[in-house]
Amino acid sequence: MSEKLRVGILGGTGMVGQRFISLLENHPWFEVTTIAASPRSAGQRYEDAVGGRWKMTTPMPEAVKDIIVKNVNEVEEVASEVDFVFSAVDMSKDEIKAIEEAYAKTETPVVSNNSAHRWTPDVPMVVPEINPQHMEVIEFQKKRLGTTRGFVAVKPNCSIQSYAPVLTAWKEFEPYEVVATTYQAISGAGKTFKDWPEMEGNIIPFISGEEEKSEKEPLRIWGEIKDGVIVPADDVKITCQCIRVPVLNGHTAAVFVKFRKQPTKQQLIDAINNFSGVPQELKLPSAPKQFIRYMEEDNRPQVSLDVDYENGMGVSVGRIREDSIYDWKFVGLSHNTVRGAAGGAVLCAELLKAQGYITKK
Ligand SMILES: NC(=O)c1ccc[n+]([C@@H]2O[C@H](COP(=O)([O-])OP(=O)(O)OC[C@H]3O[C@@H](n4cnc5c(N)ncnc54)[C@H](OP(=O)(O)O)[C@@H]3O)[C@@H](O)[C@H]2O)c1
Repeated sequence: MSEKLRVGILGGTGMVGQRFISLLENHPWFEVTTIAASPRSAGQRYEDAVGGRWKMTTPMPEAVKDIIVKNVNEVEEVASEVDFVFSAVDMSKDEIKAIEEAYAKTETPVVSNNSAHRWTPDVPMVVPEINPQHMEVIEFQKKRLGTTRGFVAVKPNCSIQSYAPVLTAWKEFEPYEVVATTYQAISGAGKTFKDWPEMEGNIIPFISGEEEKSEKEPLRIWGEIKDGVIVPADDVKITCQCIRVPVLNGHTAAVFVKFRKQPTKQQLIDAINNFSGVPQELKLPSAPKQFIRYMEEDNRPQVSLDVDYENGMGVSVGRIREDSIYDWKFVGLSHNTVRGAAGGAVLCAELLKAQGYITKK
């Protein structure tokens, strides 16, 4: 039997699910053995269930084409085949909460791309380079669920990945007021230009629910575990506007920051370039070698040139300069469906395996 952990993808026929399947092709630790989706797809070969909906630029991996898709709602059956699951189903928030906990209660760890559990107090929401220690709250969650190995862990929203890591790298200078505008790609809505032609040459100044997530989620990531729950930080204020732009992949953020301790430009650049965390230390398979890089050119980072930096797992920063109202401003770019979605979740799962939370059943 393969030594790799057996993985199920809940919502495997969707855009994020496809990204999981692509990223896990040839993964050294994990092997996709099970795919589940809605009852519409259940019972079909994966290739047939996806049909013309394959949205990746690389071909569908041969190893998954003949997998018979299961129904996400048949929890016991799916859980019996896997060591853990990634969740990328699109259902109502309450349904997602319930189904992810149902999987956890079958002693199947769930690493979720969804927002449903991001504010459940004993569910860790983790960027592995920033708050790997939050996984410790899982012990309290297991007590609540009555499980020994089942739990839910989540990754944060795609929009924050272009600036929250940068602000974390600058923690020693105590950023306390942040204004961010995000320019977000259409793949963040599960779309390509083929299925959203109105976005060509267009800008839409609204993404439902996105501004609240962009303002609040970094605070939870910077929070602490107290009495078995994660208490968000309260020493930074973030205000945000989120704009949909005609870009396929890549969220850009234009950000203004006030600091309690004044850094120089060189200190800010050095802090970015030198920032690394547990994934780099442990050399996790999907960890970027350099998580954040600074680009000196005035016209960088650019989506078309820089979105795939570190295989889409790194953050590119440019245009750090002094501001006349705030202290400093910069522009950040990250890949929304890799670092911001499936890739971020795969790195969380690698961290969980390294920490001993995900094991063979
Ligand atoms: N796209 C992004 O960049 C991004 C980023 C962060 C978070 N998210 C979140 O990730 C989730 C998935 O997004 P997506 O863009 O991949 O969506 P999607 O392309 O619409 O895929 C949705 C998946 O959920 C399944 N599904 C839908 N209704 C279901 C039901 N009633 N019961 C069971 N399964 C059901 C679909 O199965 P069928 O194929 O059988 O219909 C499909 O596998 C969403 O919650 C989204 O908000 C997306």
